[in-house]
Amino acid sequence: MKPSILLLTLAAAGAAACTQRPAVEADYAVVPLPAVIETDTAAAPFRLNPDTRIVAADSASASNAAFLAEYIGALTGFAPEITATAPGSDYIRISCDKPGRADSYVITANADSLTVTGTDAAGAFYGVQTLRKAIPAAAAGNDVLFAAGEVRDSPRFLYRGAHLDCARHFFSADSVKQFIDILALHNINRLHWHLTDDQGWRVEIKSRPRLTEVGSMRPQTVIGVNTGVYDSIPHGGFYTQEQLRDIVDYAAARHITIIPEIDLPGHMQAALASYPELGCTGGPYEVWQIWGVSKDVLCAGNDSVYAFLDDVMTEITDIFPSELIHIGGDECPKVRWQECARCQARIRELGLRRDASSSAEEKLQSHLMGHVTDFLATRGRRVIGWDEMLEGGATDNAVIMSWRGTDGATAAARAGHDAIIVPYKFLYFDFAQSTAPGEPAGAHWSTPVLLEDVYNFEPVPEGLTDEEKEHIIGVQANLWSEFIPTFQHMEYMALPRMGALAELQWGTGRKDYADFSRRLRRLARHYDLAGYNYAAHTIPADTAASR
Ligand code: ACM
Ligand code: ZN
Repeated sequence: MKPSILLLTLAAAGAAACTQRPAVEADYAVVPLPAVIETDTAAAPFRLNPDTRIVAADSASASNAAFLAEYIGALTGFAPEITATAPGSDYIRISCDKPGRADSYVITANADSLTVTGTDAAGAFYGVQTLRKAIPAAAAGNDVLFAAGEVRDSPRFLYRGAHLDCARHFFSADSVKQFIDILALHNINRLHWHLTDDQGWRVEIKSRPRLTEVGSMRPQTVIGVNTGVYDSIPHGGFYTQEQLRDIVDYAAARHITIIPEIDLPGHMQAALASYPELGCTGGPYEVWQIWGVSKDVLCAGNDSVYAFLDDVMTEITDIFPSELIHIGGDECPKVRWQECARCQARIRELGLRRDASSSAEEKLQSHLMGHVTDFLATRGRRVIGWDEMLEGGATDNAVIMSWRGTDGATAAARAGHDAIIVPYKFLYFDFAQSTAPGEPAGAHWSTPVLLEDVYNFEPVPEGLTDEEKEHIIGVQANLWSEFIPTFQHMEYMALPRMGALAELQWGTGRKDYADFSRRLRRLARHYDLAGYNYAAHTIPADTAASR
């Protein structure tokens, strides 16, 4: 189908004859592509016009009705009235009582009405997102014609994630909300929020105030890739618990669960700068001013570290209702533990011994992660960890986030763990978007991640049995911020690759890059309308071959 903004006369549109208002055509083939679109071009379409009402059929649909009214307002300039009962005709009805798989919806349209029926409020929300993206971004002042027929849609994965690193660079609460808006536009339902790292601690923990008093600020930052030259600009910031709760609510209203990450036992130098007694050497430590993997990590032989983690997780679980809590586990060098009398004593006490697959120190890490896992379980939570969690043996119901490739996911699935697919070669959006001269920089340690490569990636690893495939519960892209100092730059790195991500997370798995490109060009007009910064040059041009 060709994108078209048709100025239609009423006669051509076959619509009710009481106005000469111009109209544009909606196109249900959005990003991500709905599973089934069946339209009847011979039948009269539904005509969205300034008098169209939105009917919230039940209390759970009120917020979806309000979002749709807001989107229609931004796209057309209309201000649809929201009512509880349907008039005779000329209405969009939203409900969420259709039995079926979570997050799914059906849209039906005829000349009288358009209905969005979700299997739950989230499903209806995605139906609303499809309607929003179906309307041409240049609809202002026009009626909108929705072809008669039906759209039936259901996501491939129920975990559809995006990660945001606010530790290396701090982004304001308003920027995080803007990021959440961007996720909603792409049907993404998990924000994996990386809140702590060597270079900054960004979450207020009332029982440990120095984490933000000291750990949220670094006096300067290295320029480039650890050049030895510094910018002399203090960098810092943190979110208060009140701000965090407000952001959790903002996300929840958009059916997005925030999964906080407290990365441990490595990536903890900002915490060590705040409380040096938590490290093996006792410090002193600084909030790190360079990039990479710090040797200084939490001491796993010190009881007060375990108490510290319990205190942090108590407040984290008070703020974040997510069942899943990310506890990191990546890139934890063992040099300090090998030299630390307390860590070595703990290894002996626990009877940990090197075997063919793991060192004693890797098993010590598993012991520490197991403690945090058990503590979180007492609060009804389940952990996610990076794929290094498998090295010393992960606790039974830990979810493994496979970032070094997909082998971690394969191993996890075979061992009965759920896994989330985030391999850096395809889904680390902090790498450059192209090899073009002048392409804004990103991370340097791997090759650019091109839009087409993201789109063509198949997330479920080969060689798994059907039962093992069931353990691949989701797909996510990561946005680390070492080399992305502003939110504007972050938006650029996210978009339009997030469009390709949405296809992996939601779509059927069928690949047709030319068709995707056509749909993405229309989505990009919505980016323009919202004022998002994005890599427009990576979107294939509208040539005859790509139509
Ligand atoms: C990671 O990229 N260190 C998970
Ligand atoms: Zn130690």
